[in-house]
Amino acid sequence: MVKIRQIKPLIAANWKLNKTVKEAVDSAARLKIILSGIKDRDIAICPPFTALEEVHNVIKGTNIMLGAQDVFWEEKGAFTGEVSPMMLKDVGCSYVIIGHSERREYFKETDETVNKKIRLCVADELNVILCVGENIEQRKAEKQNDVVEEMLTKGLKNVKREDMKFITIAYEPVWAISSGDSSHKPATAKDAQEMHAFIRNTLGMMFDDSIAQSTRIIYGGSMKPDNVKELMAKKDINGGLVGGASLEPESFAKIVNGF
Ligand code: PGA
Repeated sequence: MVKIRQIKPLIAANWKLNKTVKEAVDSAARLKIILSGIKDRDIAICPPFTALEEVHNVIKGTNIMLGAQDVFWEEKGAFTGEVSPMMLKDVGCSYVIIGHSERREYFKETDETVNKKIRLCVADELNVILCVGENIEQRKAEKQNDVVEEMLTKGLKNVKREDMKFITIAYEPVWAISSGDSSHKPATAKDAQEMHAFIRNTLGMMFDDSIAQSTRIIYGGSMKPDNVKELMAKKDINGGLVGGASLEPESFAKIVNGF
């Protein structure tokens, strides 16, 4: 085994279907102040499409990067309602979330569509946050490893080794995602670590050990200021994708600074 290379953590805010342009701009302006000067970790915010350009105007040139929450797999054409990777880059995005469980559940996203999206994004040099994770029935049936392995192999099919530098994996157990309320519990740090190690191992089998050791694997699902430290102390957890607790700038900043 090659020694684990130091991976720079990424904390990304997934604002989901929240915030008008003004609200997003106000949050970004606040984050720009309270997160200024942080260099040892990457920070990204993913507002809804409508706010991307205005938020970019606020954060460009700072240590906060911009991400989108979805993308389409064709560059252009008769695809009403869609946006392409190049369009996202055009408004300042350096990241895009692909395959979030909410898209899989409500919008019929499949591993095949995830794969098509990823392949176009890496060709266009747009960084991808690929979300994988089991639901509660699959966890109860102890199928979580099979489920995640399938999502990885199908989602990353025909992605070249040299393009893996554009890929971050987000392990998001569906049962831990907060859905905007506080009734969901995060995975324990131990369970999360076990899955992250499994994901790293799977990447090692799909590609090689050096890809496994250099790919960023972040955790999502009720990450909060009070649990970030314990999660981030785990060997294979390289960051977080934060939904509910990222909506308030102060709370998101506590997570960014919390480990
Ligand atoms: P949560 O969402 O932090 O509100 O659980 C995470 C996500 O869905 O990306």
